[in-house]
Amino acid sequence: MNKENFAGFYKKSIAERQRIAAREFAMNDSEKTLLTKEGPLPFEVANRLIENVIGTYPLPMGLATNFVIDGKDYIVPFVLEEPSVVAAASNGAKLSCGFTTKADDPIMIGQVQLVSENPSENVIGTSNGNPAGSPSTASNGNVTNAALKIVTAKKELLEFLKTVDPILVKFGGGPKDLISTVLKTERGEMIEVQLLVDVRDAMGANAINTMLEKLAPKLEELTGMDARLKIISNLAIYRKASATTVWTKEMLNESTKGEVKGEEIIERILDAYAFAVATPFRATTHNKGVMNGIDAVVIATGNDFRAIEAGAHAYACYQRNYTPLTKYYKNKNGDLVGEIELPLALGLVGGATKIHPMAQLSLKILGVKTAQELARVIASVGLSQNFAALRAIVTAGIQSGHMKLHAKNIAVQAGATEKEIDEVAQRMVEAREVNQGKAESILKEIRGNAPPKGKMIIS
Ligand code: MEV
Repeated sequence: MNKENFAGFYKKSIAERQRIAAREFAMNDSEKTLLTKEGPLPFEVANRLIENVIGTYPLPMGLATNFVIDGKDYIVPFVLEEPSVVAAASNGAKLSCGFTTKADDPIMIGQVQLVSENPSENVIGTSNGNPAGSPSTASNGNVTNAALKIVTAKKELLEFLKTVDPILVKFGGGPKDLISTVLKTERGEMIEVQLLVDVRDAMGANAINTMLEKLAPKLEELTGMDARLKIISNLAIYRKASATTVWTKEMLNESTKGEVKGEEIIERILDAYAFAVATPFRATTHNKGVMNGIDAVVIATGNDFRAIEAGAHAYACYQRNYTPLTKYYKNKNGDLVGEIELPLALGLVGGATKIHPMAQLSLKILGVKTAQELARVIASVGLSQNFAALRAIVTAGIQSGHMKLHAKNIAVQAGATEKEIDEVAQRMVEAREVNQGKAESILKEIRGNAPPKGKMIIS
């Protein structure tokens, strides 16, 4: 590969980029086909979503079933690569008594960082707040006064911001509040201005960032400080969604066909939950299980899963140690109550949600009318997913479910033909030994050591 040949890559057409990539990475014909075959996301749309596009990358899309949320039935599209997740979420929902949910108004936070134009004014450390040898005009009081000026001008600033996005205001959204705080940082005092905006059915990043950039010069004029960062915060604490449900002893009992009693499953789940509260090493994996379902729906609907992930994990340790995003306890009947609460900044308009045909299809399947409704569905999915993982790991363990599909992949890698895959996979799962060596030895047995017809065994 010669990196010079990628100069100006962004200016080339997709076809040219594909030709360059194919040549530079010595692609064979089938690799070239992988790159050039157009799928449900047309190249021309992909090219408007990111830069330097050379192809698209499909992932499996499945439907999670059995969700009854606030009395309404939902079928939920999942996009992800991990086996068992769709089945687990569907099963968790099936065993539940249905989900009751809530979603906050879609209020997002944007931040402006204000620093003094004269860097010495920011530095704390001497009795008068000035660094040794710095000009006497610099003081912490200046920064506090600047923050007060913003508070005094709040009403006018919010009125001005309404003119920046009149459409959002027309639909009932728009700027709602402006909060300024003096922060003591390792580089001295700074002002954090938080702008709170109701972004309605948008994820909100564009609306907020545009407003912040318009607000910044006004803040500079008002305070004499320098507006540096002007960007959305992904810790969307005012845009949370929550869900709760009950899993009865009876349903849990049935779910293991009485092998492990319902009461016992509840006790074990409560122990697992207490363990996650007590150690961040478990809490992280517990929350990974929550996010398995959440991310899959966020991706299916074309939303920004990095923003959701960042917000969820920050919320898990917001003003506390890192803890589970879900909670479990027993109600007075001795049944298991599960709850979840997390920030969910999701959109139905803008970005990939609007232009990715598969995202549009996912939203059609879901039948959600607002971003808040989508957030309520996704919160329920996170709870169901987490419960199902806990139920599995406190009973049979996760591997038996996980391994069913994985075993089929291993069988294929070992050279099993279409007719042989299921048998090889099943025998590996039964033997609790899922690896290529085992697949090959099962294949040998099946074939009576005869040479394979068609595919070669890779050893
Ligand atoms: C695997 O993707 C997710 C789990 O590890 C979650 C958990 O341990 O709770 C099964």
